[in-house]
Parts: sequence; C-alpha cells; structure tokens
Amino acid sequence: MIPFLDLKAQYASIKAEVDAAIHAVLDSCGYILGPEVAKFEEEFAAYSGAKFGIGVNTGTSALHLSLLAAGIGPGDEVITVPFTFVATVSAIEYAGAKPVFVDIDPATYNMDPSKLEAAITPRTRAIIPVHLHGLMAEMDPILEIARRHKLIVIEDACQAHGAEYKGKRAGSLGDLAAFSFYPGKNLGAYGEGGMVVTSNPDYAKKVRMLRDWGAEKKYHHVLKGYNYRLEGIQGAVLRVKLRHLEAWTEGRRKAAALYDRLLAGTGVTVPQPQSYQRHVYHVYAIRTKQRQAWQEALNAQGIQTGIHYPFPVHLLEAYKNLGYKEGDFPHAEAAAREVLSLPMFAELTQQQCETVARAVRELAKCELAKAS
Ligand SMILES: Cc1ncc(COP(=O)(O)O)c(C=O)c1O
Repeated sequence: MIPFLDLKAQYASIKAEVDAAIHAVLDSCGYILGPEVAKFEEEFAAYSGAKFGIGVNTGTSALHLSLLAAGIGPGDEVITVPFTFVATVSAIEYAGAKPVFVDIDPATYNMDPSKLEAAITPRTRAIIPVHLHGLMAEMDPILEIARRHKLIVIEDACQAHGAEYKGKRAGSLGDLAAFSFYPGKNLGAYGEGGMVVTSNPDYAKKVRMLRDWGAEKKYHHVLKGYNYRLEGIQGAVLRVKLRHLEAWTEGRRKAAALYDRLLAGTGVTVPQPQSYQRHVYHVYAIRTKQRQAWQEALNAQGIQTGIHYPFPVHLLEAYKNLGYKEGDFPHAEAAAREVLSLPMFAELTQQQCETVARAVRELAKCELAKAS
C-alpha cells in the first residue's frame, strides 16, 4: 500500500525534537501566541523573504486579514482564479468584497495573466494569485498589471512554502501573502495554523491587531477584530519542522524528478515548471480524461491518489450567487475534470515512485492502444 501522504513517517523522523518542544510549551503554559509563536513568526518571515510574519489560526484567516489590512471591503472586487481551494474565495466574501474570476493557464494551473486586464473594473482593488500545487503564479506580468492599475497583490501561498519565482520566495513578491499550516501542507502544524507575511509595517501592525480582537494592547481595542491567534504548541511544532523544511522539499523535488523521468514519453501530462521556477510539489498532479478509471485501477493496486480539485469554485453550489455558469472558464473546468494527484511526500522511496510510475505507464499504454 502506497499512501497519498504519510504524516506518520514524518513524525517518526522528528519525534524526539517535536515531543520535547511540545512539552516545553506545556511546562511554560504559553498556550496561545507566546514566545514560540513570536520566534516562529520571525523565522518563517525570514525564510519567505519578508520582513514581518503574523501567526494566525488558519490560512483562511491569513487571507481574510490580509484583505482587511489592505482596506478591502464591501463594494470592492477582488480578482482570483476558480481553480483553487474554496477558501481563497470564501476569504474574499468574508471581507465583504466580490470575487471575480479569470481562467487559468492549463500548462501551470495558475492564473493566466493575459486574461487579467479584461477582468479589471473601476471597483477592482486587489488580485489574489494562487500558487497552486506549490508552483508560483506568473508573478512578473501580474505585478506589472497591478502596479499600472494601482491594485494590491495578495499571494495565496497556502500551498507554496519555499517555492521560488526567479530566485524570489513565495511570500516576498506580493503586498501581503497568506500561508496555511494545515497538517497536510509542506510545512504542517499538528492542528490548524496559518500566517500572514508582509514587508509593509502598516499592514503588519493592522494584521497583528486584527488577529487578536483588534487590540493594540490588552483591552485597548482600536479595531473590530477577531480571535484568529496561533496556538503556542503549533508555534513550537512549526519551529521544529521549519528546520527540516528544505530537506523535505528536496525530498519532494527528487520524487517529482523521478516521476517526471519515468513518465516521459508516455503521453501523460506531468507538472510543467519553467526553468526560473522552484516547484515545491505540494501536489504532483498528472492529467487524464479517464480519471475515475485510473484512480480506481491505482487504488486496486494499493496506490492512493487525490484530486485537487474536482470542481472549480464558480460551479460550486455555494457560489452560485456569483452568477457564473459552465463554460465561463474552460481551462479551469477541464483541469477540474482531469487532474489526478499521485502520492507525494518527502519520505517517498525510489521504489514507491517506481511502483506508482509503472502502474501509470501501464494505464497510459492501454489508453494509447485503445485510441489507435
Ligand atoms: C490554496 C489554498 N488557499 C487557502 C487555504 C486555506 O488554508 P486553511 O485550510 O489553513 O484555512 C488552503 C488550504 O487548505 C489552500 O490550499
């Protein structure tokens, strides 16, 4: 059996360090925020190439507070993509703004910058490019368009810890960026967690207040805020894990390179990062029109797979209010029908990769035979 993700293997490799860090928090009673969170904020901001990090309870909250800190609210439009986890869009509505979609580039699954300008209206205030699967969006043209139209850029970096674009880290290019530390992420807490990173001191100050009931100091509530604080135990766990993140990322990249090599020449579409991209492979997605059959066949051989994501947000029941219909974003819709995520985690062995790739090759061969 080859799991899609193996969090047990990761815990086993750092058990002593993590257990000690958790016990230290229990001894100190620093359960909410506290010194471990403060140190983690500094360390993760530095890792991401930003000046400030503000720990929050989820990636969704990180997006929500980024929007609020940038002054976005009712009457404003925020442009993003429909091929993302629903939270990107939920956060825009939490802020009271209207989500507006542009289609993705089918080669990267990320925002197609050539479609961006047509979606800008006098009400547009911000763009949220999503670095899907751990590959950063095409940031140069996005930032250039944003600059020209005076729009805020908030990176949804929830899947992209340590990803790079032309040598710059996810989190260092937008006005603000949101990270998730959901357990299955490349850097995952043992519970929920998230962070806003920014190099703008005013945004940092505002997010810091908003996550803690809008208080400047205890009981001095200057803004209407939220209880979005990161817990001390999660800060301590994340500090330990951050020390291993680069090695884990290299483990993922090695597994991805092996998949790439073993699937070359089979006609199977694999991830396509440009040479100036450091893909961190939160997800390694292939594409097939026979997705259900392939997923069932792989499952029957003990190979777990995932689908990220089966529905584009504009076709979800909950977001009918946005007024979109099938056919509006054909590349997002096709990707949602065809992507299939292969097992991907740092501890994946060469043998496991070979077993998965062999099974996929066989499926591709059958497909080719049927087509000819
Ligand atoms: C692209 C994207 N945006 C936002 C989120 C929300 O993060 P969280 O689950 O920590 O709220 C996630 C993760 O689930 C995500 O993958």
